[in-house]
Amino acid sequence: MDLSPNTQLTGLAIPVEGMHTREERLNPFPWFEKMRKTSPVTYDEHRSSWDLFRYDDIVAILKDPVTFSSVRPTAGPVLLGSIIGMDPPKHHQMRNIVSKAFTPKAISELEPRIAEVVHELVNPLKTKQQMDLIHDISYPLPVIVIAELLGVPPEDRQLFKDWSDVIVKMPEDSTENEVQSFFRERQKTRQELDDYFMKVVTERRKNPREDLISRLVHAEVDGQHLTDHEIMEFCILLLAAGNETTTNLISNAIRKFIEEPHLQEQLRQQPELMEKAIEEILRYYSPVLATNRVVTKDTEIGGKQIKKGDQVIAWIASANRDENKFPVADQFKVDRTPNQHLAFGNGAHFCLGAPLARLEARVALPIILSSFHNMEFPEGTELTPIPSTFVYGVKALPVQYNPA
Ligand code: HEM
Repeated sequence: MDLSPNTQLTGLAIPVEGMHTREERLNPFPWFEKMRKTSPVTYDEHRSSWDLFRYDDIVAILKDPVTFSSVRPTAGPVLLGSIIGMDPPKHHQMRNIVSKAFTPKAISELEPRIAEVVHELVNPLKTKQQMDLIHDISYPLPVIVIAELLGVPPEDRQLFKDWSDVIVKMPEDSTENEVQSFFRERQKTRQELDDYFMKVVTERRKNPREDLISRLVHAEVDGQHLTDHEIMEFCILLLAAGNETTTNLISNAIRKFIEEPHLQEQLRQQPELMEKAIEEILRYYSPVLATNRVVTKDTEIGGKQIKKGDQVIAWIASANRDENKFPVADQFKVDRTPNQHLAFGNGAHFCLGAPLARLEARVALPIILSSFHNMEFPEGTELTPIPSTFVYGVKALPVQYNPA
């Protein structure tokens, strides 16, 4: 198994071809298509791992956690001591308990507050004509929402934001200095987060409140509770798994609405299309490009022999453009139905935060569309992709607009 710094850093090391240049990272879809058609299950010696590109193969591995284990050396910027890195039966127990606290009802109750936060972010931009949508809206929104969900007090918000930054940060380059300072910073942050959440968990045990941490403290299935350490791991996972992904969902949506400007007016006129539009964004510009698994016994995928111990990389973003599953897969169809994309994964580890991510997008996008008209890229804009093979998005999204 390749544990080179590159693998550890990106979670999923860069494939030999397909995602190197700026253009390829911004638009990896032609490469995915080529691989689906020519080498849908392929071994990459350089990264010692199998790459899977077809929808059916990817669903098959995500649905079989016994053969394809989530206990793996790395999974992008997320933390593997937590639920996302567990297998059954432990995963099942843990998921049952956290689901008791992270309920659809608890999430839907956040709607009015999410709208308030979006308005707070959008209002100062109404007197301007240009913004960086990521810096100004889609980055702060999920950080504030998760902080409030967890019960982080407003005075700790900045601290919390700084920690979130470090957790999702990637090194600027692969020089030894940069890599070392990246690891040092991440370790320091992890320690600070551990200390912070330990204190909050201890406090909430004594004085429960109406927040997620208090609910996690009390969540119980068959007499089983979470330990303080498990609660802390889960809280930190939410920062890592929930922030940058949601940022990218919202900014990838606005990017698409600028690339196909008729969508802006169409969605203003037909707001009932928004839910389907969000599903299509999730499919078309999947915020998570890939996830990985480790093979627990010799097996076969697409006629290829895969050995116990091998790593497989499931290219979710390729599955979501698979022409055998989605007619005219490379076209953005705002009302696509059905749309069984894999943006939130599939099987046992299906994203626990999907209702929250969908809600944030469903609240934020109509407010953005009604506040800013004729959104476009300022002349000369060159989008810079996030340097990751795990998440898909751009670093900044400059937008020029007419305030409504
Ligand atoms: C798992 C995507 C937002 C929490 C996953 C997985 C994917 C994913 C693909 C499965 C990973 C695997 O099978 O290895 C996304 C996308 C999001 C998003 C595209 C936004 C658009 C969120 C949010 C939260 C969250 C907002 C929480 C606040 C989780 C958790 C898991 C998970 C806890 C692990 C579930 C388990 O292992 O049982 N997510 N996610 N995600 N996600 Fe999300």
